[in-house]
Amino acid sequence: MTDNPIFAVAAKAEALRARGADVITLAAGEPQAAAGAVVVEAAVAAVHDPATHHYGTAQGDPALRALVATAISGDTGLPWNAGDVQITLGAKHALFLATQALIDAGDEVLAAAPGWPAPGWPGHAEVVTAAGGVAVPVTTDAKFRVPAEALDRCRTPRTRAVILSSPGNPTGAVYPESRLRQIADWAQRHGFWVVSDDIYRTFDYTGTYRSILRAAPQLRDRTVVVGGVSKGHAMTGWRIGWLAAPPEITASARLHVARTITHVPTVGQRAALAALSDTGTPVEAARDYRRRRALLVDALNGIGGIDCPLPDGGMFAFPDVSGLLRDRGWSSSADLAAWLLDTAHLAVVPGVAFNAPDACGCASLWTTTR
Ligand SMILES: Cc1ncc(COP(=O)(O)O)c(C=O)c1O
Repeated sequence: MTDNPIFAVAAKAEALRARGADVITLAAGEPQAAAGAVVVEAAVAAVHDPATHHYGTAQGDPALRALVATAISGDTGLPWNAGDVQITLGAKHALFLATQALIDAGDEVLAAAPGWPAPGWPGHAEVVTAAGGVAVPVTTDAKFRVPAEALDRCRTPRTRAVILSSPGNPTGAVYPESRLRQIADWAQRHGFWVVSDDIYRTFDYTGTYRSILRAAPQLRDRTVVVGGVSKGHAMTGWRIGWLAAPPEITASARLHVARTITHVPTVGQRAALAALSDTGTPVEAARDYRRRRALLVDALNGIGGIDCPLPDGGMFAFPDVSGLLRDRGWSSSADLAAWLLDTAHLAVVPGVAFNAPDACGCASLWTTTR
């Protein structure tokens, strides 16, 4: 098993900072704003409440689960309740629990992750591998979205599921409703599961985000919806996420949680409850990021040899730096990222981390302070 390459860049930047360098890090995908005051106040109040000093329930705080269910009902147009939700240690844990529940050793899961020309977040492949499965990279279209035909070309007797992320990391690709419907039809035809990683759901700059279940409600009994407060509420360190799924999946996730961590820490769950009650913060954050998206993409496109598409969603710019690599005689985006860190003290994640070596070289995460 190897370390997540994104965190490897972040660790290198941190080591440089520890030696006194003034490093700007665009490495890990996280807002640098602090969590909102209401979140902090709720956490402080929770610390003072002796009820949080004792065991809670494996499935998670019912009040938090109810709020999550309401949010997912809004996104999907389908009724969800607290019983359909499992609280997890961030969205990554939810993805881990989902794959543990869905696959056996040797089973295959399709994802735009990783493998050029399917740049994707390495975490998707990592959870599949952790469950003994095989992560199969799927070719995307020019806008970095997986077509149903490309999924079908990867289908084998061992295929069990597909992981979709919309908006995605690092490309910011948002799947339109028509594409979601095609994928849902394909999944339903073959009896596959869909894991819908909606962690960037609130960063939707074109208003085109749709839950796959809004597009194809008939897929509900084979869909796992994953989310969390990490990105939209600037709470990556609190480690609170969730999955919402049919009963066999939530039951498996609950058992896994009960047998490993007992439950997600209660203070963090209270903080997440306050975060979800504050619907204004993600809207404000998305507005702020939309402004920064324009600034960053314009600036990048002003540099010779860089071509940066405007992302429809998410928190990242994903520039094609192949021209720059050619001009400089660098062999891959890793050379550029190393040069930026050493000379400019700017940490970015090279495209190789997403298996997008040169054509789409340098995935820089635009998460500077306000
Ligand atoms: C696509 C995607 N899903 C999930 C996660 C993990 O989210 P969390 O920090 O809530 O575990 C990330 C983090 O970068 C991500 O990019």
